[in-house]
Amino acid sequence: MILSLIAAISENGVIGRDGGLPWRLRDDMRWFKETTLGHPIIMGRRTYESNGGPLSGRANIVVSRTLDAHTAGIEVARSLGNAISLAKNHLQSPSGEVFVIGGAGMYEEAMPRCERMCLTRVHATVEGDTRFPDVDWARWRLVREEPHLADEHNEFAFSICVYERKGSGT
Ligand SMILES: NC(=O)c1ccc[n+]([C@@H]2O[C@H](COP(=O)([O-])OP(=O)(O)OC[C@H]3O[C@@H](n4cnc5c(N)ncnc54)[C@H](OP(=O)(O)O)[C@@H]3O)[C@@H](O)[C@H]2O)c1
Repeated sequence: MILSLIAAISENGVIGRDGGLPWRLRDDMRWFKETTLGHPIIMGRRTYESNGGPLSGRANIVVSRTLDAHTAGIEVARSLGNAISLAKNHLQSPSGEVFVIGGAGMYEEAMPRCERMCLTRVHATVEGDTRFPDVDWARWRLVREEPHLADEHNEFAFSICVYERKGSGT
């Protein structure tokens, strides 16, 4: 199994504001959907609530100590380790990919276990209340970078960057 993390981050490290995203980036939403579709996704309870419900076409695993274990459309895990175990049941092959999609605490806890990070670098400085954790960049290799311009559907320019853990052999 490959554990990956996917996030959009401003130049000053912000990922969220008032329970939502601090920008409108249609093409980044498309990239997120394309990349995660068909794969199990793991998220914290507040990210699940900000999505307004389960995301279609993906097994939604929500980490929470408070959510009802029988909430429709999702599986509830009580820890990240529990979530990863549940995600494995949904993989088509043992080498399948599972995505951690936020928020801040989930990213911080998952990062040491991840082999890949799909980071959208939003080329803007924005106000916010939720931040991406610090990254030890010496451990990561940039394997893909795709710039996108701002336009009427994308509030800011951004770059899709994919990093792989050095020495992971992937
Ligand atoms: N830019 C991006 O890529 C991106 C991605 C995702 C989210 N976001 C933004 O980030 C914000 C939400 O993120 P957040 O960091 O505030 O919250 P979050 O991580 O989504 O959710 C936090 C909740 O998850 C549960 N949780 C977290 N770690 C846990 C653990 N180890 N064991 C058990 N439960 C655990 C707890 O739920 P209980 O309280 O129910 O126990 C906790 O209150 C929103 O603004 C959202 O839009 C941005």
